[in-house]
Amino acid sequence: MSHAGDLLFLLCSTQSRMNQLGATKWIDESRQGTALQPEEPSATSSRKCYIESYGCQMNFNDSEIVAAILKEQGYGLTTDVAQADLVLINTCAIREKAEQTVRKRLQEFKSLKQNKADMLVGVLGCMAERLRHRLLEEEKLVDLVVGPDAYRSLPALIAEAESGQKAVNVLLSREETYADISPVRLNSNGVTAFVSIMRGCNNMCTFCVVPFTRGRERSRSPQSILRECEELFEQGYREVTLLGQNVDSYYWIDPQTQQATTFAQLLEMVAQINPWLRVRFSTSHPKDITDEVLYTMARYPNICKYIHLPVQSGSTRILQLMNRTYTREGYLKKVERIREILPDCGLSTDIIAGFCTETEADHQETLSLMDICEYDMAYMFMYSERPGTLAARRYTDDVPLEVKKRRLQEIVEKERTLALKNMQKEVGKVRTVLIEGPSKRSDQDFCGRTDQNKMVVFPKKHYRKGQYVNVRITGCTAATLLGEVVEETIPEMVA
Ligand code: 5AD
Ligand code: SF4
Repeated sequence: MSHAGDLLFLLCSTQSRMNQLGATKWIDESRQGTALQPEEPSATSSRKCYIESYGCQMNFNDSEIVAAILKEQGYGLTTDVAQADLVLINTCAIREKAEQTVRKRLQEFKSLKQNKADMLVGVLGCMAERLRHRLLEEEKLVDLVVGPDAYRSLPALIAEAESGQKAVNVLLSREETYADISPVRLNSNGVTAFVSIMRGCNNMCTFCVVPFTRGRERSRSPQSILRECEELFEQGYREVTLLGQNVDSYYWIDPQTQQATTFAQLLEMVAQINPWLRVRFSTSHPKDITDEVLYTMARYPNICKYIHLPVQSGSTRILQLMNRTYTREGYLKKVERIREILPDCGLSTDIIAGFCTETEADHQETLSLMDICEYDMAYMFMYSERPGTLAARRYTDDVPLEVKKRRLQEIVEKERTLALKNMQKEVGKVRTVLIEGPSKRSDQDFCGRTDQNKMVVFPKKHYRKGQYVNVRITGCTAATLLGEVVEETIPEMVA
């Protein structure tokens, strides 16, 4: 596991995180962001755009929407920033570290621009609203600033910037879902893809900047989601991950029939597209995940048995200060329900160490909750105060940095122990794996994930990417299972 500043990640590189995990993914903010590469390089386009992305999987999916909008305008994509006419950086504001990294990167682009005066540099995403004055006017680091709901205006903003004006649109929308735009798949393995089903968040967790940077929650129509998933299946994709900040509050009312669609119903519709299309989703909120969702998961073998259920803290007092609207006991009851209805379900979480006023006793409650939940995986962070959030306005960030670091370390060690134990339990079992592509370590091996989202590496033999295989698990590390394919036929996946 890599320890990078206040962030800890299970996998070593941004690239492997993008490709290997099905949950909402946080890209290592201390490294460079990921330069996004199209599935089919567009060598013939005259104008070239370079896009670098930071933050969660939703942000990466937004970059795919931006790529689609730019493609319409005749832009090709390049992974070489020196070749680009337009350099875009899709930013994350969730922790201070992410912002610092982006600022450093913008300085680098500024020096590149000195030799290439007509190159445009733009900031997209979550940092846009808060930092637009500084980036555009004070530091003159960028030519355009575009918020997460304003990507349709990119062509007009590029034209404005080309004529020497400062181009800005950071307006948030109550309706925009980019429902009609087919994302250009970037960094794709051709087997697994992400599909945004909603945008924004109404939850107002006191530590979180997302409701301010991404605006109010809105759902995308089920028809447009189904169309995108069907197209992906036709193109050979075999897994979709439905994305939202809080998927359980997905809610669509058909404007004509007034008929409502809940998340459980949407999940069922996507699962029915084809039994060979695996369905995942992220992120679930403990206050909103329903039994109906769990029963739907149980009914469909192609809905993967894996839930990312951020807890944030094991202490009810801290959860109240965070405005998470559940208690320690309430969270544990949800986990019990998951275990009852889906006995073989993978479980992961997000945890924040050192939130305002957190005592040693609160921290111990987090560690003991981890033991009870036996998580397979966790994203773990030190609390980072974000300007404008309720916590920044109401509370004092009073846990000393050294204490935050030590508590985070203890949480990480606990997580490692639990993850390894869960991996060891897999040894000897036979699991169905969807082959995602060659393993990073050896070109003799393939990698793919089990239903429960555990990465498995096994010898390639004559198998193909995109195929389902049964793998006997023969060994493990804390992050990867090792195995051998045992049969060519796989169990019937239809209920
Ligand atoms: N400081 C630290 N971690 C945070 N997260 C969100 N905001 C902050 C913050 N201010 C974490 C939460 C959330 C995940 C996406 O990022 O754990 O679930
Ligand atoms: Fe932020 Fe809470 Fe919304 Fe997640 S649910 S995006 S933590 S406000």
